[in-house]
Amino acid sequence: MVGNRNVPTDVDITRNAYDDIAGVYTEFVKGHLDRAPHDRAMLAVFAELVRANGSGAVADIGCGPGRMTAHLHSLGVPTFGIDLSPEMIAIARQQYPELSFEEGSMEQLALGDASVRGLVAWYSLIHLPPERVPDVLNEFYRVLEVEGHALLAFFATHAPDTVEPFDHKVTRAYRWSVERLAALLRDAGFTVHTRMIREPAPDERFQQAYLLVSKLR
Ligand SMILES: C[S@@+](CC[C@H](N)C(=O)[O-])C[C@H]1O[C@@H](n2cnc3c(N)ncnc32)[C@H](O)[C@@H]1O
Repeated sequence: MVGNRNVPTDVDITRNAYDDIAGVYTEFVKGHLDRAPHDRAMLAVFAELVRANGSGAVADIGCGPGRMTAHLHSLGVPTFGIDLSPEMIAIARQQYPELSFEEGSMEQLALGDASVRGLVAWYSLIHLPPERVPDVLNEFYRVLEVEGHALLAFFATHAPDTVEPFDHKVTRAYRWSVERLAALLRDAGFTVHTRMIREPAPDERFQQAYLLVSKLR
């Protein structure tokens, strides 16, 4: 039986939600990195590891308006952005005309095998139904060079070995136990060497987590 073409898939829902909110989101995150020392610290570690490993590019996957793409670029790491939302890509191009941004899905990256030196997924895996995350992590592993690094940021849950949906402001999202996502990263072939969890700030509901992993020989 052929599916009903009029029923939007979860991907359509996510894309449309971010298209609708792109301008508001851009304003919301403006200047946020200046007030987020943990974020800057993890990005600095990632950038240093990537820089030490040659001069290839980093893919910022689910780049939104491009703030992390631009930040990594300012740290001396050539970075380009990919996002599902055409509106986000339009804003990113407008804000950072010197950088490259393309529409695309993390579930099927238009990148060659072992073609990027680093990869960032900054709160962008959060909307993917959990059963599809293993395939995306395989896709991340495929496009990363050997000795390359990947950095993930996401909402965490205290509950061990859990992934649970929550009412994210833009569209349905999931928060993960760090152990559970780390286990999936290991299953995909990554070496998980750095994890950081911070408690919620007064204006946040959940712990925030960061995983830094590498594709070793
Ligand atoms: C919470 S925003 C984070 C944006 C950016 N990383 C930042 O920190 O400002 C999530 C972004 O992921 C993108 N996204 C969600 N699912 C995606 C997918 N399957 N492939 C590519 N991008 C996706 C959304 O369009 C959105 O721009």
